[in-house]
Amino acid sequence: MSKEIIKIFDTTLRDGEQSPGASMNTEEKIQIAIQLEKLGVDIIEAGFAAASPGDFDAIEKIAQRVTKSTVCSLARATDADVKAAGEAIARANMKRIHTFIATSKIHMEHKLKMTPDEVIKRAVRAVSYAREFVEDVEFSCEDAGRSDIGFMKEITDAVIEAGASTINLPDTVGFRLPFEIGEMVKIMSQYTKDRAIISVHNHNDLGLGVANSFEAVINGARQVECTINGLGERAGNAALEEIVMALKVRGDVFSKYKTNINTKEIYPSSRLIANITGIEPQPNKAIVGKNAFAHESGIHQDGMLKNRETYEIMSPESIGLVKNNTLVLGKHSGRAAFKDKLAKLGFTLEKEALNASFERFKILADRKKDIYDDDLRALVTNEMTKGVQVYELISLQLMDCSNGVPSAAVKIRKENEELMEAGIGEGTIDAIFKTIDRISGFEGTLKSYKVKSVTEGKDALASVTVKVSFSEEEPAIIGHGVHIDTMLASARAYIGALNSYLSMAGKLKKRYSDTNSTV
Ligand code: KIV
Ligand code: ZN
Repeated sequence: MSKEIIKIFDTTLRDGEQSPGASMNTEEKIQIAIQLEKLGVDIIEAGFAAASPGDFDAIEKIAQRVTKSTVCSLARATDADVKAAGEAIARANMKRIHTFIATSKIHMEHKLKMTPDEVIKRAVRAVSYAREFVEDVEFSCEDAGRSDIGFMKEITDAVIEAGASTINLPDTVGFRLPFEIGEMVKIMSQYTKDRAIISVHNHNDLGLGVANSFEAVINGARQVECTINGLGERAGNAALEEIVMALKVRGDVFSKYKTNINTKEIYPSSRLIANITGIEPQPNKAIVGKNAFAHESGIHQDGMLKNRETYEIMSPESIGLVKNNTLVLGKHSGRAAFKDKLAKLGFTLEKEALNASFERFKILADRKKDIYDDDLRALVTNEMTKGVQVYELISLQLMDCSNGVPSAAVKIRKENEELMEAGIGEGTIDAIFKTIDRISGFEGTLKSYKVKSVTEGKDALASVTVKVSFSEEEPAIIGHGVHIDTMLASARAYIGALNSYLSMAGKLKKRYSDTNSTV
């Protein structure tokens, strides 16, 4: 029996990026898009082109790199947004414009201040205009979960007529229960028949995003929108890994359906996104949480030893997780073996990034006894996503701060020049960051500072994520640093944020005012 494909539409780079604190720089977004392509997602929503020149730039670059997945940009139902989306994805091998407007009474009356007829006109105009750029147009009835079904049929007829081939029904506020989503999808898919694919986009405000997605599939949805690690606005979106693994593990129930996902790329994708955003999935998160495959109680461990299936419904290997995997390389290992190991972990590095990663690996191997796959992932991700480096840390010296005034001496390379300064601060981190400010001439305001250990043990790598604001008019920038020494990781993170800020100069300001935003 041939199976029906459930298309996986990943919106980690768009809705996921709307998670507080999850904004990414262009280089980071490109690396994520490459990984999503490897994972086998059908459509990558690469961003919202009209949001800012930085978003546009990232989508444009992703469109040039990704060939196997469709690259999509979001657009409100306005000419300017659709044009920006069309131009940003112009060079993609397969491309889609995703345009939307709210269809619920509350959104139309209070947010849009438009009549239903005006909303239909705007939607039709946006879809027809999008068809001037691409053949593949998706239309979303924003807040479909709270919209009148009769009105959704009306607008659906109009946008299909105008050229939309996918109709997405988002539960924007995560309000609906599974049986209600099932009913809505059933009515809409029976209504549209083969005129369009019905898609769902479930938010997780009541923790029902994944359950709602399944009810939708059972009732006719053939595209599911989701994010890695369930990132997304507020409580997030339905998690890709949970949807895909439930479909696979419960193949007995879902025997009619399949996805194009290579499940062995789930764990690498989850790690990449956690390393880049600094947002770790909760430890007990299904599929990718730290404890998802941990068996703590004696009874469970005993059962596992006798037969893994006593307590495991899927194997860690099926999501690409090789537990406790230490690198069999040491400080004497050569570049070829290192490159080979990275390839096994799914990293393909350009020569320069490979050399830099190898140097960092050698330094680490000198100081750390066991190097785990996750150490390597964190280190290499940090290297691959650092982008243009205007400033580069050469050295850091700290004065004992137990009794005296915390102070730092920092040496930085800017182009070919070596710059050095010393400074004091309220604490060691403050002293480091203030000294970097003094060298660069930029004054950063630290908005958040997070440190976590990449793996276990006293010699674990520290992964530091900072959020720094360098200008009042522009959004704060995220920087990451990974090092066995937490202070060095912190200095790298701060300089990383500064470099990202400089590489995005002039591209950060939102193009639309927040009050006008409908996403
Ligand atoms: O949640 C939502 O309604 C959205 C749409 C823009 C699809 O993210
Ligand atoms: Zn959403």
